[in-house]
Amino acid sequence: MASAIRADLACSRFWPAFGHTTSEGERRVLQPWFGEAKLGIFVHWGIYSVDGVPESWSFFDGTVPYDRYMAQLDGFTAARYEPTAWADLFVRAGARYAVLTAKHHDGVALWDTAANDLSVVGRTPAGRDLVAPYVDALRARGVKVGLYYSHVDWSHPDYATVRPPGQDPAERGNPYSMPAAEDESSERWANFLGFHRAQVRELLERFRPDLLWFDGEWERGPEQWRTAELARDIAELSPHTVVNGRLTGHGDYATPEQGIPVQPPAKEWELCLTVNDSWGYQPQDTRHKSPRRLVRIFAETIGGGGNLLLDVGPKEDGTLRPEQTERLEALGEWIGRHTEAVYGTVRGLPHGHFYGPSTLAAGRRTLYLFLFDRPNEYVVLRGVRNAVRSVRVLGTDVEVRHERVGGLGDVPGWEYVHLTDDHLDPLCTVLALELDGALDLYGAHTRD
Ligand code: GLC
Repeated sequence: MASAIRADLACSRFWPAFGHTTSEGERRVLQPWFGEAKLGIFVHWGIYSVDGVPESWSFFDGTVPYDRYMAQLDGFTAARYEPTAWADLFVRAGARYAVLTAKHHDGVALWDTAANDLSVVGRTPAGRDLVAPYVDALRARGVKVGLYYSHVDWSHPDYATVRPPGQDPAERGNPYSMPAAEDESSERWANFLGFHRAQVRELLERFRPDLLWFDGEWERGPEQWRTAELARDIAELSPHTVVNGRLTGHGDYATPEQGIPVQPPAKEWELCLTVNDSWGYQPQDTRHKSPRRLVRIFAETIGGGGNLLLDVGPKEDGTLRPEQTERLEALGEWIGRHTEAVYGTVRGLPHGHFYGPSTLAAGRRTLYLFLFDRPNEYVVLRGVRNAVRSVRVLGTDVEVRHERVGGLGDVPGWEYVHLTDDHLDPLCTVLALELDGALDLYGAHTRD
C-alpha cells in the first residue's frame, strides 16, 4: 500500500520534488497550541491601503477600475513598517498568533515570490520582502506565525480560465474569475495551479508558518483546486503547519466570519472579525467596536470553544491607526486581569445552565462565568450537581457569598451568587467557582 501511494505521489504534477513519506489516510492532529491560543490578530495589509479602498473586491465589483486599483502599487511604501512594534502590540493584546495577508485576491504578494513578478518587492516603492521580517519579529516574541494566502488570483492571466462546476453556460460571470463558456481552457488552468502550488511551496519552505490561512475556495470546486492533493502535499512538506478550513474538507478547523454561530461548531473553530467594519485600512470607516463589545465577543467565542482572530488594517506605511491600537490594548488589559479564565481553559457550559458564556479550567473543577450585565442582586447557576466551594471575583481578591436553594436528591436546584456593583469589572466581570469535583451536569428530566 505504502509503495503504491509513493508511486502516486511521485507523479504529483505540481510538487514533483517533494519527499512524501507519510501514508495516505493518516489523520492530521491539530497542533495543541491552536486551541490554547484563544486570541490571534489578523492583519490585512496590501496596496489597497494606499487609497483606502476595499481589498481586491473594489476592482472585482467595478467600484474602482483595475488600472486605478493597480496604480496603488506606486504609492505603497511600507516606510514606517516596524514588525517588532506589531509583535509587541500583539503580545500586549494577549494574542498568541497573528495572520498576515501574504497574498489577497488581487494577486499582489508581500514576499519576494519567484513565481511571477507581481510582488511589493519589484513593483512598489517598499522594494523589499515584508513577510520575512514579520515572521522573524513574531518568532522573537514567541507569537505563532500565520500566513493568509488566497487561492484566488484575479490578476493572473491563467486564473479566469475555468468555470465552477454546475455554472449555467448562459451566465457570463465576473470576468476576473470566470471565462465565457466557450473560452474555457484546462491547460491554462493547469498552468495556474502550477503557479499556485509554487507560491504555497515558497511560503512553506521559506517561512515554515505555524498556520496557513487559505481563502477564496468558493470560486472553484475541490476537484478543480485539487484540494485533496494540495492538503496531502502540505502535510508532507510541513506537517506542523495548521491549515484553516478553507481547504474544503481538508482543513483543521472551521472559520465562521463576522458573527458567532449560536450553536458553536463541535470541532475546533475560529471567528474572524474586523475591529471596525473593514478588513483593510479604510479611513472613512470609524465604526470601531468598543472595548466592551470586543471583550464580550471574545468571551462568547472562547466560551464556545473557539479562538478570536481579530482583524486590523495597517496604513500603507505600515502603521496602525490609534483607534485600532487602543482597542487591542484594551482587550489585552482585560485579558490581563482575567488570564485564568482565558488561557488553559476549554469550552464552558451548554446553553441554559447560566445566561452568559463560561469556560472551564483543564481539570473541569473550576468554572468561570462571564457577566456582561449588572446583576439584579445575584446571578444564578442551575443544573450543576457539584457543590460550589467558593466564588471569587477574578482580578480582585474578593470572595462573594453564594448559596444553594432548592433541589432534591439528584436534582441540583439553583446556586445563587450574590454580587454588588462594586464587584463589577467595567467591561466584563468574571466569577471563578471552585467545584467539589469535576463538573457534573443535570440536564433533562427523565421520569414521567
Ligand atoms: C472575506 C472577504 C475577504 C477577507 C476574508 C477574511 O472572504 O471577502 O476580503 O479577506 O473575508 O476572512
